[in-house]
Amino acid sequence: EKGGYDYFMLKEIAEQPKAVADTLLGRIGTDGRLTLDEVRIEDRVLRAVDKIVIVACGTAFHAGMIAKYAIEHWTRLPCEVELASEFRYRDPILDQQTLVIAISQSGETMDTLMALRHAREQGAKVLAICNTNGSTIPRESDAVLYTHAGPEVAVASTKAFLTQLVACYLVALYLGQVRGTKWGDEINTVIRQLADAPRQVEEVLGTMEPVRELARSLSSASAVLFLGRHVGYPVALEGALKLKELAYMHAEGFAAGELKHGPIALIEQDLPVVVVVPSPRGRSVLHDKIVSNIQEIRARGARTIVIAEEGDETVAPYADHLIRIPVTPTLLQPLVSTVPLQVFACELATARGHEVDQPRNLAKSVTVE
Ligand code: F6R
Repeated sequence: EKGGYDYFMLKEIAEQPKAVADTLLGRIGTDGRLTLDEVRIEDRVLRAVDKIVIVACGTAFHAGMIAKYAIEHWTRLPCEVELASEFRYRDPILDQQTLVIAISQSGETMDTLMALRHAREQGAKVLAICNTNGSTIPRESDAVLYTHAGPEVAVASTKAFLTQLVACYLVALYLGQVRGTKWGDEINTVIRQLADAPRQVEEVLGTMEPVRELARSLSSASAVLFLGRHVGYPVALEGALKLKELAYMHAEGFAAGELKHGPIALIEQDLPVVVVVPSPRGRSVLHDKIVSNIQEIRARGARTIVIAEEGDETVAPYADHLIRIPVTPTLLQPLVSTVPLQVFACELATARGHEVDQPRNLAKSVTVE
């Protein structure tokens, strides 16, 4: 069952290159264009969309936060992302030109289901991104794009998250392709880069031993903070969520720019702080700002655990621990930067003596509101 692994979670982390490859399979044509015929929403309807709203819970919500950056960049359509449990209670503004994307691994999450029912009642079109064939959420949606992660048994979501990201990128790029934006050339390049993601995830998985060692050395820490900017911010939230649910530790994710508005008061001697560093190429402003953030927290005694691209030497002097990830386009970085955080949480929880597949108080699918 566990294929030689001690836990399903370890097996599922290891399956990520295949899960990502399977989710891309058949969706990139030989001409390098995306074919998402299965989505069954006519291109005419997609061209008329004037707003996108993403609803999801937990880890799937973090995938949605990342999707917002990709969708707004490649389509220039406004995109909101909201926790499914909050969505319908604020009487959201929706109409026939709104495309609602509901992201759910199980397809049975009640909060997400109620959000999509509310959206359809208002006339919005709903596209589900789901991992479970024939489950309730895709059945009640106008269209579905399945992720092909295979069954996810461990309560903490890992491979489903990576495939949710892939599906979100595909939707963003497809919308860009159908609607035609000024980013046409970039879209073609990114589609090629996305096809290389399984290999890159494999590469990261091959370098995780130092991360496991570091996690074991932190087993008696009382808290861990996670910082990121841009798409690294939801990655930081996801790293913190994994640590909360598996290691039962106080863990918080922050947008690095918010530090000075409060959270920096939490920094004390030897507090482990994980920082997800954006690529120094492309949006270099982001990179420079985060390097200053690392300096600020280190000057106040934090133990800095820095996740940075291969070849990014500027961060090295301020990193107590440096975790390398492959060079990727800025928007795709979460596909590789999330992996060390999953391994970190899993190993830290195990070192604290917890059963990672069945964390206390949690269920794999939450079918109550
Ligand atoms: C975290 C986790 C949960 C789920 C959330 C949504 O590791 O597994 O936060 O992501 O309950 O579940 P789905 O995707 O099935 O709707």
